[in-house]
Amino acid sequence: MFRVENLSKSFGNKEVLKKINLEIFRGEVFALMGPSGVGKTTLLRILNFLETPTDGKMMFNGRECAIRQKNTVMHKMSMLFQRPALFNSSVFNNVAYGLIIRGVDKKTIGKKVIEALNLVGLAGYEKQRALTLSGGEAQRMVFARAIVYSPDLLLLDEPTSNLDPANVAKIEEIIKKIRSEHGTTIVIATHNIPQVRRIADRVGILLNGELIEVNSKEKIFTNPGDARSAAFIKGEMIY
Ligand SMILES: Nc1ncnc2c1ncn2[C@@H]1O[C@H](COP(=O)(O)OP(=O)(O)O)[C@@H](O)[C@H]1O
Ligand SMILES: [Mg+2]
Repeated sequence: MFRVENLSKSFGNKEVLKKINLEIFRGEVFALMGPSGVGKTTLLRILNFLETPTDGKMMFNGRECAIRQKNTVMHKMSMLFQRPALFNSSVFNNVAYGLIIRGVDKKTIGKKVIEALNLVGLAGYEKQRALTLSGGEAQRMVFARAIVYSPDLLLLDEPTSNLDPANVAKIEEIIKKIRSEHGTTIVIATHNIPQVRRIADRVGILLNGELIEVNSKEKIFTNPGDARSAAFIKGEMIY
């Protein structure tokens, strides 16, 4: 579905990503792992066209993405940020946002918002003000906002890092459901190793700006191809 070739990114003279080569397959849950500050968010932002790479190519459905095509591609993807932004309005309006800006008609908006809220377990919350939601509810609401226009690709940046275990479990259930019911391709940045075991199909490990290993979850956890991956997965790496 998505491929990046020799992708690099520098901020000033600091090289954050070094020649990343990565392929994302349709319908998979791909976990992007690595210590904090390693470039996970930067890579997701590049995939979502919020950041321009310093060098390299990006291909979507086999075609190279020039900046002028980015709007077509962007319509098919959605990103959930590490720190969710809530609009000071109702839950309904917060979730409807992506449909309103895409010019969807009112009736369809109503139907899709209700479907998305059902999927994240927030049926009946439409009229509540977003700012009065609990942390877990707020995160599920922004999840509904991210999926309301049925994206093909969902980019999740540490979606559970600030949540309690009950809400972590709920978010993981939502991720599994979106994948199985809608076939959505999901890339999730996380340093939560048990979470990767629970939800990922394949795993990529980022270290010092390099993607040191990309493998199936089974392989990464039982027989990693890189000693540094092994150390990271066993929790021996200090970060
Ligand atoms: N806009 C920016 N300007 C300068 N440095 C940045 C910018 N965005 C990220 N960085 C730096 O890039 C590195 C990687 O950051 P980030 O992608 O957020 O890592 P991670 O998500 O893995 O914790 C960090 O050292 C961070 O300070
Ligand atoms: Mg980050």
